[in-house]
Amino acid sequence: MAGLVVAGAQWGDEGKGKVVDLLSEFADVVVRFHGGANAGHTLVVGEDRLVTHLIPSGVLRPGKRCVIGPAVVIDPQVLVAEIDEVQKRGLLQRPEALLVSHRCHLVLPYHKLLDAARESARGALKIGTTLRGIGPCLEDKVARCGLRVGDLGDSGLVNARLSARLPEVNALLVHYGREPVRLEDLHAGLREQAERILPFVGDAGALVRAELARGRAVLFEGAQGALLDIDHGTYPYVTSSNTVAGAVCPSLGLGPRLVEEVMGITKAYSTRVGEGPFPTELADERGQLLRARGHEVGATTGRPRRCGWLDLVALRYAVALHGCTSLGLTKLDVLGGFGPLKVAVAYRLDGRDLQEYPTEPGVLERVEPVYEELEGWDEDIRDLREREALPTPVQRLLKRIEGDLGVPIELISVGAARAETIVSRNPFRRKNP
Ligand code: GDP
Ligand code: IMO
Ligand code: MG
Repeated sequence: MAGLVVAGAQWGDEGKGKVVDLLSEFADVVVRFHGGANAGHTLVVGEDRLVTHLIPSGVLRPGKRCVIGPAVVIDPQVLVAEIDEVQKRGLLQRPEALLVSHRCHLVLPYHKLLDAARESARGALKIGTTLRGIGPCLEDKVARCGLRVGDLGDSGLVNARLSARLPEVNALLVHYGREPVRLEDLHAGLREQAERILPFVGDAGALVRAELARGRAVLFEGAQGALLDIDHGTYPYVTSSNTVAGAVCPSLGLGPRLVEEVMGITKAYSTRVGEGPFPTELADERGQLLRARGHEVGATTGRPRRCGWLDLVALRYAVALHGCTSLGLTKLDVLGGFGPLKVAVAYRLDGRDLQEYPTEPGVLERVEPVYEELEGWDEDIRDLREREALPTPVQRLLKRIEGDLGVPIELISVGAARAETIVSRNPFRRKNP
């Protein structure tokens, strides 16, 4: 039995897609377990670059089973486009290669319209959502008026549910000064999408439970990051679901003991896209330099990402929230030639050290990070494949992070490409490396 979760330990975009693509080599099954097309996971293999929004990042490896779990909200338009893109590469030719849970809720056009309408109505208080309809779709799920992937096979049911839902949806759209949506238009879109998606639909939870029971290696791909969690993140500047590693259990219907390993992914610096507090943000030219060198532009929305120093206070909190057993550190190459580095080791508020991570924006905006300065390095490290070969200042940074967080760094990423990685062991085999 072996379940490994790869989870974002910051505000998303830590390089989870790259790590999942790489670790898929060791897995039998790769499962996306939450979020939706707000995620953008970039895979770089040779000359090929693919951004996955819904399909698990194991998709580039033929023979691996990819699964989309029940808690993922699916925009059928995005899923069909993604299937097309992957099939053009000769992958996903057989329906068994991808299993989409019949329980996934559908993101419908009106969810996206409401997301946009609410964001513009919020004005200065906007969240900076990805406008992918995630919040409104999850509201409908919890209010028990959503439409699920499995419903697509029954046009009578789709009709009944949409007819019941539209009066309220359209009243809201009109309230926000938008055009109402028409039942016929929704039907037309869904009919075409259903034909493409239904061949892949089945019981994802049952499959994953059975695979774990057979002792197969299951890799769970997280989306977003710990600090975007609806309960534990920087509310209201968060996404609308739980993003912590433990969310894998209710998503797939697993008992908590089935997940043995959690690898938290963090960049060697910090980024955030959208609004919300960011204590170590560099609002000066160094922030711009990090953005330029790290190509820090959103994979889903194309928005520039805000950049700043590594924040060990936030990471300590993320490691605790996820229950990390290891860390994956990405984008170390970006810091080469940057000069001396800073890492936040504590927060002070009104002259006192804070013991717990404060998630309230009003508090986080006022904290003063306490920085430790570390020596930088000038070498290009992208071709190095052994931890011991890394320049001494890099090794010191790794030790500093491990010492502070109490978790080993078992994956070091020194470039965007799959090959530009140092992995210390098969992460599914803790006892017998
Ligand atoms: P995700 O959402 O966590 O999968 O991350 P994204 O794909 O949104 O953003 C990470 C970006 O960094 C992508 O463009 C990756 O190709 C890139 N990337 C990942 N790891 C590294 C690395 O070690 N070095 C560099 N230079 N780029 C990386
Ligand atoms: P991956 O999986 C970075 C952020 C949005 C916004 C907030 C709410 O690629 O790391 P939403 O559309 O979910 O209602 O937006 O959450 N956000 C992400 N930021 N990476 C992501 O995913 C994100 N998914 C959501 O920018 O601040
Ligand atoms: Mg991303």
